[in-house]
Amino acid sequence: AARARIHPSILSADFARLGAELDRVRSADAVHVDVMDGHFVPNLTLGRPVVEALARATTAPLDVHLMIEDPDRWAPGYADAGAASVTFHAEAAAAPVRLARELRARGAQAGLAVNPATAIDPWLPLLEEIDTLVVMSVEPGFGGQAFLDLVLPKIRAARRAIDDTGARVAVQVDGGVNAETIRRAAEAGADVFVAGSAVYGAADPEAAVLALRELADG
Ligand code: DX5
Ligand code: ZN
Repeated sequence: AARARIHPSILSADFARLGAELDRVRSADAVHVDVMDGHFVPNLTLGRPVVEALARATTAPLDVHLMIEDPDRWAPGYADAGAASVTFHAEAAAAPVRLARELRARGAQAGLAVNPATAIDPWLPLLEEIDTLVVMSVEPGFGGQAFLDLVLPKIRAARRAIDDTGARVAVQVDGGVNAETIRRAAEAGADVFVAGSAVYGAADPEAAVLALRELADG
């Protein structure tokens, strides 16, 4: 299997010194940026101007996770802002096929995220349209929540469906990923791992990234 990819989430970093925080995770495969609008989730974080500044501050790819209402309207702007990948939520998109195509047309990878209670079956016909399927392993909105084992069967089903169609889609798991839970997610078939508190809550974030990757690779 390909080496596991670790995406530290800056939601758990120090927002007053984001540039320096990016420098603490040099071996990250991408930096995960959680955009929350205070409507789709009960928390408000950052928006396009900050993503533009982050894109200027790092050569690492930015994996932007939009937890917002009306992504049809806002998501393309994040591709223009320099995101390598833009993920929108299945629960929020009005025209997900058109949106995924729009993101790719603007040069970004397209990600589709599903909340813990959202079934993936209705979304399987879209596999050709996306680059990443994000299985949320917590209810979105906050860092530091406990990993929900109830999503493991969904990760397994996603991996199987993707392998069956031969589509080249990554399975990203987001929420509660740490040294104790990452192995379960990897065994279920995830290949991209978002980790916020497990990386930025560690004394040495860079060492945490390396340790998580080793655990995931088994
Ligand atoms: C949750 C966010 C996650 C969050 C993960 O709503 O989408 O990306 O930063 O944080 P941890 O790893 O602490 O659960
Ligand atoms: Zn996220």
